[in-house]
Amino acid sequence: MNAEPTVSEVVNTTDLETRVAELGREISADYGDRRPVLVAVLVGSLPFVADLVRNIEVEVETDFLALSRFGEGGRIRIALDTSLPLEGRHVIIVEDIVDTGLTLTVLRRMLADRGAASVATIALLDKVPRRVVDVPLEYRGFEVGDEFLIGYGLDFEGLYRNLPSLWAVLDRDVLASRPEEVARYLYPGR
Ligand code: IMP
Repeated sequence: MNAEPTVSEVVNTTDLETRVAELGREISADYGDRRPVLVAVLVGSLPFVADLVRNIEVEVETDFLALSRFGEGGRIRIALDTSLPLEGRHVIIVEDIVDTGLTLTVLRRMLADRGAASVATIALLDKVPRRVVDVPLEYRGFEVGDEFLIGYGLDFEGLYRNLPSLWAVLDRDVLASRPEEVARYLYPGR
């Protein structure tokens, strides 16, 4: 079987580059000399923050954290914390995608509790139809539908994060059961 009908490119590299540059300019204009701290949520935001930070034209610091989910209801805790103290800082959380909004709601509260001067969020993707809680999103790259996405940091079972563009998965069963076929299509040069 050819995997082509299973995955479909939804945002190509040129459109990603253009939009990330616009977001970088917006942040530069909004923050000026306040020297914000980007707090990128690992691992999904890695390509996004790497491109974003190079498009910010004012002084900025970059830090990381990782979250883990546990227990019923998927409670969230910090698995890897920032190294910078955030008290009094202007924090910008960098997320790959906001889906239900639950992760972001918890994270914003955690960072605000540390005495940040302000907390804002930038997400590359906003999966609007899936939102369960209303959470502020100050900057977003693209609004997307409810398809499962891979590439440019987004994974399925740890794979596909290194694809340079974004793809929608039309049939997750094929991805789970015949990953070799999908890989042959997505990585034609391998
Ligand atoms: P939320 O708490 O439901 O908003 O979950 C957000 C997290 O779910 C993101 O940071 C991603 O790790 C993951 N996620 C949501 N949608 C997708 C997707 O389409 N592809 C890959 N990961 C996703």
